[in-house]
Amino acid sequence: MISLYAYGTKEGLGFMHKKAVVTVHRDSVVGQTDDRLFGSFIEHIGRAVYGGLYDPGSAQADGSGFRKDVMELVRELRVPVVRYPGGNFVSGYNWEDGVGPVEKRPKRTELAWFAVENNTFGTDEFVKWCGLAGTEPMLAVNLGTKGADSARNLVEYCNHPRGTRYSDMRRANGYESPHGVRLWCLGNEMDGPWQIGHKTMHEYARVAHETAKVMKWVDPSIELVACGSSNSGMPTFPKWETAVLEETYESVDYISMHIYLENMENDLKNFLAKSLIMDDYINSVVAACDYVKAVKRSKKRINISFDEWNVWYHSFDDNKKLERWQEGPEFNEDMYTFEDALLVGSMLMSLLRRCDRVKIACLAQLVNVIAPIMAVSGGGVWKQTIFHPYLHASLYGRGAVLDAKADTPLYDSKDFTDIPVLDTLCVADEEGGALTVFAVNKDCEGGVLAEYILSDFKNYRPVSHIVYECGDMKAGNSPVDPNRVAPREAELPAFDNGALCAMFPKLSWNVVRLAAAGPAKA
Ligand code: AHR
Repeated sequence: MISLYAYGTKEGLGFMHKKAVVTVHRDSVVGQTDDRLFGSFIEHIGRAVYGGLYDPGSAQADGSGFRKDVMELVRELRVPVVRYPGGNFVSGYNWEDGVGPVEKRPKRTELAWFAVENNTFGTDEFVKWCGLAGTEPMLAVNLGTKGADSARNLVEYCNHPRGTRYSDMRRANGYESPHGVRLWCLGNEMDGPWQIGHKTMHEYARVAHETAKVMKWVDPSIELVACGSSNSGMPTFPKWETAVLEETYESVDYISMHIYLENMENDLKNFLAKSLIMDDYINSVVAACDYVKAVKRSKKRINISFDEWNVWYHSFDDNKKLERWQEGPEFNEDMYTFEDALLVGSMLMSLLRRCDRVKIACLAQLVNVIAPIMAVSGGGVWKQTIFHPYLHASLYGRGAVLDAKADTPLYDSKDFTDIPVLDTLCVADEEGGALTVFAVNKDCEGGVLAEYILSDFKNYRPVSHIVYECGDMKAGNSPVDPNRVAPREAELPAFDNGALCAMFPKLSWNVVRLAAAGPAKA
């Protein structure tokens, strides 16, 4: 039995730190990350598109009206894929409203968010923006008010080379080469009564299958995501997943998951434990996928597109005061705190830990609306607290996720028991000669002294330890104080004969980077 306490040195002799021992083997690979695990999402909602990506009146706008400062941060994040145009918005969207000469595009009442949609930004602008931002588009089709016909026409518009009504429409609109959109979502949250054109599981399953069929007939190279449940609390979860997959198993490639977590009760211990909901939810959806695989005696495996995830609740009260029928209003602009960033760090680890099955994930959303990037109208950009763990995971989380056996102290909270105080995992990028340790210390009392047994990595050396901590859990950044909460470089942890010994401060996110220094010693 390993003692879970250790005498501290840095914080004074005699101070008892909690201690964790983590064993990591090179060969215990959970899976190889798909780059698309670090994706994001942009919807026509609030100032996400208008005033976020696209702001022709801004001093920051390029010749196409795209904000250069926003794009720079998107590039810094190395966002591999962006889902668009919704979200709930897509279930009432006519994509033809958003292409062609801008002056001919109609304004519409938008019923998902009770706004006015002016359609000055649409599919072509989005695909162009993606090219400039170095990201891949993931388009959702409308299965609320539209269906198979509109969806297959959009695939033809985007991907067919020439000589047909919709491919020639694209060419006439100035896009000679096909957009080549590979990834498509079959609607959005169709199990939710709030959805325009909400469906029962059987209604949706039939429509999704028939739509998938014709979309793939137009372009067999595309990949399709069927809608799973909107969250694990839905009354139809997980029957929805099995019913939908029983109908669509051979016509789709992924099933979607969505989750938004909150701290309405202002209970930090309980809030930080909520990544366990995500772990459980993923395991249940994987089980549903594999159950249907067995029923069908299929050789095919359905994987997960976790295409909306984040913390979301700060803006709920303000949203209630919003006047209807505005164009690009301030809406759902959550101001994130440091505690949100810690939970986002753990949520990223939940995704990484199941990278064997979660292939695509989208932090919802990217700019202004529940977002890591904020763009001030008439001003510059600033980074929310959640920007940093997302950045670190995207930059350093690509590679082989290694099974980390953590012997860590546990705690209980209002809704959970046996919560690991230290949430941790390792990602190896052996080609690049890098090993990265991610860790959240959820302990409210003090630091955790973590010892990583890395016997297979004796030839590695620590090169960086990023610590992200803040005395005030409710602190956030803002346009006037954009770096109030920011990570810092800490002293390098000790490393001796394959044992890494790191101190993770109370309530902190940590990234320890090791680099190969020479051949491994036996
Ligand atoms: O991201 C905001 C909204 O949350 C999306 O439109 C919807 O899919 C989800 O309920």
